[in-house]
Amino acid sequence: MSTIEPIVLPPACQKHPNEHYILNMYRGDLEHPSAPGNKWHKLQYHLKQARKQQASTIATFGGPFSNHLHAFGATLKTLPFHAIAVVRGELQPQLTPTLTDLAKDGVELWPSLRADYRLGMDSNIVRQINQCHDNVYWIPEGGGGELGAMGCRDWANDIHALGGDYDAWVVSSGTGTTAAGLLSNIKVPDLHVFSALKGEPAQRKLILDFAYELAVEASVSKEELDKALYFHSDCHEGGFAKQSSELISFMREFAILNSERPLDPVYTCKSMFAVLKAMEEGSWPYHRTLFIHTGGLQGWRGYSKATNPFT
Ligand SMILES: Cc1ncc(COP(=O)(O)O)c(C=O)c1O
Repeated sequence: MSTIEPIVLPPACQKHPNEHYILNMYRGDLEHPSAPGNKWHKLQYHLKQARKQQASTIATFGGPFSNHLHAFGATLKTLPFHAIAVVRGELQPQLTPTLTDLAKDGVELWPSLRADYRLGMDSNIVRQINQCHDNVYWIPEGGGGELGAMGCRDWANDIHALGGDYDAWVVSSGTGTTAAGLLSNIKVPDLHVFSALKGEPAQRKLILDFAYELAVEASVSKEELDKALYFHSDCHEGGFAKQSSELISFMREFAILNSERPLDPVYTCKSMFAVLKAMEEGSWPYHRTLFIHTGGLQGWRGYSKATNPFT
């Protein structure tokens, strides 16, 4: 559990006389220093399952700057499992800062050619690892899957416990696992999900179906979930991990007003940009909004220092 802090809004967001916006941020980035934001929560049920299966090794997948891999290494280093990361792309002469941390945390790194990586559990590399190691528990890319989403369903309880009576929550999405977990929790108000990926409008249905599967115990209807879910697929600013010049200018201005509340370069910066734009236009339909910071600040190490206005 972390804290909730107010975001200082630019005057342009408060220019519509009928709207007085309150935007607060749940500081997920301050939770679990080694596995901030959604990461720790996405790992919890996977770790339980690995223990249950008496796995001796846990393996997962990710890119060379992956927040998930980073959190995986930092979490596993204190646990009695051997850790393996399948890393997307050819082995580069120099490890990225993220992979350097993983190596220091004792994670065995297996570079994987993109074509093979795309095959996931059917890839040659997975076959090879399963041959080299007994009893491997595999965590999907990004810490996803049903167990990852269940951790985020629990996370919603922690966030809700801090109170605030919000009209809407905002969260960023990649695979949609976090959004599905949050939506499945009956305590969540309207949920606005902003995708960091280009061309993912179909993800809304996946999130809805997934949330419904997870929510059945709480006897929530699919119609209720459907009404509460707002999925935005047009705020990717050029694509995954890309930054438009407008986004870079926005972050500079945001950082002047909110220097103590850094956004990450891939996910939360895009969601925050989209929400503040809607407020500026007067089209954001809520008075009290909670923005959930999903972490990812370590990802700034993949960008030039000049683009990070939060240092
Ligand atoms: C900082 C950050 N925010 C949001 C997300 C998106 O999470 P999900 O893949 O569960 O949609 C990720 C990816 O795990 C992330 O690293």
